[in-house]
Amino acid sequence: MILFNRKQRLFLVAFAIFWLFLLVVLRFRAARDPGSYFFQPEVGYRPQYSLQRIDESLDYLRPYNQSFNDPQHPQRNFTAASDNATICVGIVTVKRPLQQNIDTTVASILDNLSEQERSTLSVHVLFALTSPADHPDYRQPWLSNVVDRVLTYEQLGAPISTIRKMENKKDIKRKSIIDYHLSLKSCYEDSNAPWIMMLEDDVVAQRAWYNRTMQSLETIQSWRSSGAVKNWLYVRLFYTEKFLGWNSENWPTYASCSVGIVTMVAVIGFMTRRKLRPMQTVLTNSFIVIVCSVCVPLLITLYFLAGRVTMQPMKPGIHLMNGHGCCSQALVFPRENVPQLLDHMEKARYAHPYAVDSVIEHMADANGLDRLVIVPSQMQHVGAASYKENRKQYNLKGPHQVQGAHGVWSMGFEKAFEE
Ligand SMILES: *[C@@H]1O[C@H](CO)[C@@H](O)[C@H](O)[C@H]1NC(C)=O
Repeated sequence: MILFNRKQRLFLVAFAIFWLFLLVVLRFRAARDPGSYFFQPEVGYRPQYSLQRIDESLDYLRPYNQSFNDPQHPQRNFTAASDNATICVGIVTVKRPLQQNIDTTVASILDNLSEQERSTLSVHVLFALTSPADHPDYRQPWLSNVVDRVLTYEQLGAPISTIRKMENKKDIKRKSIIDYHLSLKSCYEDSNAPWIMMLEDDVVAQRAWYNRTMQSLETIQSWRSSGAVKNWLYVRLFYTEKFLGWNSENWPTYASCSVGIVTMVAVIGFMTRRKLRPMQTVLTNSFIVIVCSVCVPLLITLYFLAGRVTMQPMKPGIHLMNGHGCCSQALVFPRENVPQLLDHMEKARYAHPYAVDSVIEHMADANGLDRLVIVPSQMQHVGAASYKENRKQYNLKGPHQVQGAHGVWSMGFEKAFEE
C-alpha cells in the first residue's frame, strides 16, 4: 500500500465495500436465476403462484365433477360446435408415473373465462393409450362436462397395432410424435380455428393467460401485415430461463464489451486528470492501471456471475426466440403453417427418433420460420415426472408434488404471484 496515497487508499477501501455490498445484493436477487452463479435450487424451484393456480383450478372443476345432469354445469362433450372456435386446444394425455395433472391443465385454462370467452375455445383431449380406460382420469365425471372432445386412438383411426408395439417397447419418443400429430390434426380438421394451441398434460395457466395471449396474437398479426415480422411457426406460452444464460456463441460480444468498458474507464480517468486539477494526485498512472486491471474486471465478473436473466431480463411482451426456447409444453400455432408441420411430423417418426420439440424446431429451421415467445410465461410446467430424465426415485413431499419440475420450469411465472 506504500504505492498509494491516502485518497487512493480511501477509494480502494470504498470500492471493496461497494463490491461486497453488490455481492450480497446479487446473491439474493439472482437466487432464482438458473443461469446465475448465485442460483439456489430451493429458492428458484420453489412453487408459489403455481400452487395457488392448482388449487383454484381444482376448485373450479369440483362442481363439474358429477355424473348426474346438473343444468348449472351442463355436459359439454359433443354438444358445442367447435366450428366457430377461435382457439382449438389440443392436449395429449398419457398415464404419468406419479401424478396426473390433466385436470389442472384443463381447468386452469378455463376457470377465469367468461361464457363468451369460453365459447371461443374448443378443447380436445386425446387419451393416448391403446386402452384409454387405464388412464385414471378417463372415467372421471368432469371430463365430459368440461372438455369439448374426449378423443381416443380408435376415434381418430390411429394405427393402434403400431402404437401398441411402441407402448410395449417403451418407445416413448416415437410414440409422442404420433400422439402430437394426431392431436394437432384433430384440431386442424375438426375446427376452423385460426389458432391451434398445443398443451402438454402437465401445465398450469396464469389467471390472465387468455387475454394476454389473444392480445399478443392480435399484435403479432398486425406486425405481420405491416411486414415487421417474418412468417412464423408458433408463439410459445412457456419457456424456461435455464437456457437463456450467457451463451458461449456470443463470447465475442461479451469479450469486446468488456474490453470496451475497461478502455472507457481508462480514457475517462486520463481525461478527468487533465480537466480537474485536484484529481491529479489521485489519478496517477499506476492508480489508473490498478482500477482498470482489478476494480473494473471485478465488477464485470460480478455482472456475469449474476446471470443474464438477472442482468438483462426480457421486457414483458413478444420476443423472437429462434434458439434456446425449451420446451414444447405450450405452443400456439397459426393455422396456415399447420399442414406443413403435420407433414413434417408424419415423416419424422420414420426418421431419427427425435423428441417432439426437436422435430418442431427442425421443421421451423428447415423452412425459415420464426418462433416467438410471450414474456413472461403464461403457463408453468408442474409435472412431477418427466420422461426426459431417468430418475429411479422421487423424494417429493407436501400436498402438491411440484418441485421445479426438474428444471423445465419458468421462474417468471412464479413471480406473477408478487404482482
Ligand atoms: C372427481 O371425482 C372422482 C370420484 O368420482 C375423484 O376421484 C376425483 O379426484 C375428482 N376430481 C376432481 C378434479 O375433483
